[in-house]
Amino acid sequence: MATQIRLIVDGKTHTISVEDPNMPLLYALRDELGLDNPHFGCGLAQCGACTVHVNGEPIRSCVTAVSTVKDAKITTLAGLGTPQHPHPIQKAYMEEQVPQCGYCINGWIMTAAALLKANPHPTDQQIRDGLAGLKCRCGTHMAILRAVKRAAAMA
Ligand code: FES
Ligand code: FES
Repeated sequence: MATQIRLIVDGKTHTISVEDPNMPLLYALRDELGLDNPHFGCGLAQCGACTVHVNGEPIRSCVTAVSTVKDAKITTLAGLGTPQHPHPIQKAYMEEQVPQCGYCINGWIMTAAALLKANPHPTDQQIRDGLAGLKCRCGTHMAILRAVKRAAAMA
């Protein structure tokens, strides 16, 4: 029997009907709501491409059951800022021209945004530690480090 689940995503409330309450949140965001910023990378909590914020904390939506986040405040990359008013880390990414293929960007930006919220002026080591566990196959790591530092300088 299908279960109705209320999701609050980027300030909008949605009710979805799911056959399996253990379905990953990532599938609900992409397939039910059509939000394509959280990416499927590994599906095993190993790469971070699927990261979203739940009540302000970064989580890996590929291994988060949709039923566990009902009524929580979910923020995706699209909810972090707007083209007119980007989040500082989004602005810094553009200014540093970080992306190559762009597949990983979602995870790095969502994780860095949470890091900067908790620690607005991190050291290089704190940035490296905070972003450990994310993957970029294009090797943009040094540009990412510059972007996070640039965003921190905007605070
Ligand atoms: S797709 Fe979720 S961590 Fe890789
Ligand atoms: S920019 Fe291509 S995987 Fe990171």
